[in-house]
Amino acid sequence: MNVTWVHHLPTGAEKGTILTLDLGGTNLRVCTVTLHGNAADTTSPAQNYSLEQKQYKLPSSIKTDTADALWTHIADKLATFIANKNLDKTYNDANKMPLGFTFSYPATQERIDHAVLQRWTKGFDIAGVEDHDVAAQLRNKIAQRNLPLDLICVINDTVGAMVASAYNDPATIVGGIFGTGCNAAYMSSVSSIAKLNPDDSRLKDRDGNVTGQMAINCEYGAFDNAHRVLPRTKYDVQIDEESPRVGQQTFEKLSAGLYLGEIYRLVLLELAERGLIFKNTDAGYEKLRERYCIDTGFLSQVEDDESERFAKTRRLFKETLGLDVVEEEIELSRRVAELVAVRGARLCACGVAAICLKEGIEEGHVAADGSVANKHPKFKKRWAGALGEILDWEAKGKEQDPIIITSAEDGSGVGCAIIAAMEIERRQKHTQT
Ligand code: GLC
Repeated sequence: MNVTWVHHLPTGAEKGTILTLDLGGTNLRVCTVTLHGNAADTTSPAQNYSLEQKQYKLPSSIKTDTADALWTHIADKLATFIANKNLDKTYNDANKMPLGFTFSYPATQERIDHAVLQRWTKGFDIAGVEDHDVAAQLRNKIAQRNLPLDLICVINDTVGAMVASAYNDPATIVGGIFGTGCNAAYMSSVSSIAKLNPDDSRLKDRDGNVTGQMAINCEYGAFDNAHRVLPRTKYDVQIDEESPRVGQQTFEKLSAGLYLGEIYRLVLLELAERGLIFKNTDAGYEKLRERYCIDTGFLSQVEDDESERFAKTRRLFKETLGLDVVEEEIELSRRVAELVAVRGARLCACGVAAICLKEGIEEGHVAADGSVANKHPKFKKRWAGALGEILDWEAKGKEQDPIIITSAEDGSGVGCAIIAAMEIERRQKHTQT
C-alpha cells in the first residue's frame, strides 16, 4: 500500500488548464483538460470540464526496450501534441504549462512530484526504470527536448478514478481499476498510516497535530505474493512462471484482464492435449499454443453469446483460433469461460471488501474503470453479489446494495488534472503563508 500525497478529495471548485500524460498498458494518451469548477454554468457534470485528447498506440517492442527508448517515445508524442494544438504559442520557458502524469505501476512517493518505480507490472519489462524516480527521468527528457512543461504530479490510475469521480459525485469512496491490471485506492486518515513518519512537518496542522487524510494506492494486485492465502491452480502457476516478474502480482494474475484469457487458453489447451476436445478439426489446434492469443474480450463474447446454436462463438473460434467447434465443445468452453470470469470478479470484490472492512465503510460508490468492468457483460453483477456476501448484506436486511459500482469519470485525464490543480493551489497557499 503506497501513500500518494493526495491530501483530499476535490470540492468541485478546482479550476485550471493542465496537460495530462497517461502511460497505459497499450496506449499513451495526452490530453489538455480545462477544469471549469463550480463556475460552470450548468448542472451537467459532463460540462464542468472540457478535454482535448490524442491517443497513441504504444509500439509493443517498447514494453521490453530501454528506459531511454520509453522516455524518448513519450517526449516525441508530447512534442507532437504541443505542436498540433499550438500550445507553444501560449506556453514557453518563462510560462510553462502544468503537466500531470498518470503512471499506473507501483511506485513509492516522497512527494507528489516524485515516484520511484518498485517493479514493472502488466507484462512491462523495461530496463533502467525500476528503483528509479520516473518523475526525474521524464523531467530530464522534457528538459532535453526543451518542452514548455512543468511536471506537477505523478499519480496512479486508481487515485485518478477516485478523484475524477468525486469531482462530480461526493458519494465516491473508492476508485477501482478492473482492467489489464486490478487495483484500488481510498482515502485514509493520515494518523493511521504507519508508513508515514509522524514527525514529518508536512503532515501536521497549525497546532502540530497529525490530522487530515491521504489517498492510498493499495497495489493489491501484489496481495499474497508469498502464496500463503490464495489457492492457485496449475494454470495460475504456469502463467506466473512464464511472466517477466515471477512471484509478483499474485492476486492480479488470478483476476485481471491481462490474464483471464490466458488462464482460459491454458485450460482448453490441456483438454486438447489430453485428446478430449478439438479432435475433429483438420487444421489442428496449433494456434491455441500461442501465448496470450486469447484476450478477455474473447471470454466476454463467449459468455455473452445468445445467438442461435451459439453461431457467434463458433465464428469466434474459427476466426481467432482456426478451430471448427462442435456443440459439446461450445458448451464446455462457455462453462470454462464462466469459471475463469466468476473467480476473477469475486476476487475483485474481495479487494474492495477489504478496504470497506478496514475503514468501516458501509455505503457509497466504487468508481470503477477498466476493460473488464466496462466490457465484461456479467462482471458487475458477479462483483456486487460477492461484495454483498462478504459484507453480509442479506443478514443485515439491506434491501438495496449500500455499496454500488459506478462508472468512473476519466481518471487518468480529468482526475490527474484535478490533482495537479489541487497541488498548484496548495503550493500557492503555502508560499502565501
Ligand atoms: C497494476 C499496477 C497498478 C495499477 C493497476 C491497474 O496492478 O501495478 O499500479 O493501478 O495495474 O492499472
